[in-house]
Amino acid sequence: MDFTGADILSVNQFDRPSIERVFEVADDLRPYAQRKRITRVLQGAILSNMFFEPSTRTRISFGSAFNLLGGEVRETTEVSASSLAKGESLHDTARVLSGYSDVIVMRHPEAGSVAEFAEASRVPVINAGDGTNEHPSQALLDLYTISKELETRGRQIDGLRIALVGDLRYGRAVHSLCKLLAVYNSVHYKRVSPPELALPAGIVEELRQRGHEVSVYHELEEGINQVDILYVTRTQEERFPTQEEADRYRGLFRVNQAIYTKHCEPNTVIMHPLPRDSRAKAQELDDDLIHNPNLAIFRQTDNGVIVRMSLFALVLDVAEQVHNHAQPVTWYTAKRNPR
Ligand code: NCD
Repeated sequence: MDFTGADILSVNQFDRPSIERVFEVADDLRPYAQRKRITRVLQGAILSNMFFEPSTRTRISFGSAFNLLGGEVRETTEVSASSLAKGESLHDTARVLSGYSDVIVMRHPEAGSVAEFAEASRVPVINAGDGTNEHPSQALLDLYTISKELETRGRQIDGLRIALVGDLRYGRAVHSLCKLLAVYNSVHYKRVSPPELALPAGIVEELRQRGHEVSVYHELEEGINQVDILYVTRTQEERFPTQEEADRYRGLFRVNQAIYTKHCEPNTVIMHPLPRDSRAKAQELDDDLIHNPNLAIFRQTDNGVIVRMSLFALVLDVAEQVHNHAQPVTWYTAKRNPR
């Protein structure tokens, strides 16, 4: 894949060498994300960070990633605060914003909307989630985390066994991760969801056609044994036709330390795209897992910044120039007496 000036809209754009390139650049950028060095390689560049749906980590990490490379960030966080609320089309918004920016990151509630926006944009557009469809940067950071976690356990992604738990129907992070993993060999996908929230048939078909094993479990305990990765998701309540319907599925599958100890292999890595729903009725990933060293959820979020820096560096073609602009960090970078 030629990254320079490219839109990043779907994981379908990535083959193995392009994934490896994203990860190689991400590794190279780690010292900048960890405040060991600073770079101003994107000095003068502007990112428009357009979020027309709620977001915490995706929006802030894309913004931070751009700032860490020396660029400036402009943001819109609500449809109601933008001219889309006045009836402006995605086409016109894209034509306008691309005159103000070097790159645009966009999240929108409708599937396909980011691709439509990108058609009209004169600068590269990165999809930060379009409805139930795709979330490619999340899948890349999840895969990067999987590769790092497996590396410390002496394993590779080929032959991976992964349990996907929760709302597999509406969860775009799961959709993109499943498709991205399919470029590797012999992945075993163990799906654990209520039948109504199953992974879309088209994705299952695609995974099977590519030679992967896809199995279904309705009991949590059966689905989560003998896996390398346990990937838990939240009920995507905002996608359900009614709140009552969403409530029906909340709290059906809960992973806590006791269940983990009883049913998982000792080294199983626990992941979640976050946010996890910590309200009493949900708790798909219990707080009592916090002392479990295999809980990788905050390593995932840290990796999100590095992977998003890598995407910017590749799309704006500065990956080879970053170190020429490097300087030492001059401020105190930690907290005294962290708990
Ligand atoms: C995910 C999303 O928005 O699709 N969140 C995220 O970006 N990390 C998952 C979710 O909201 O449940």
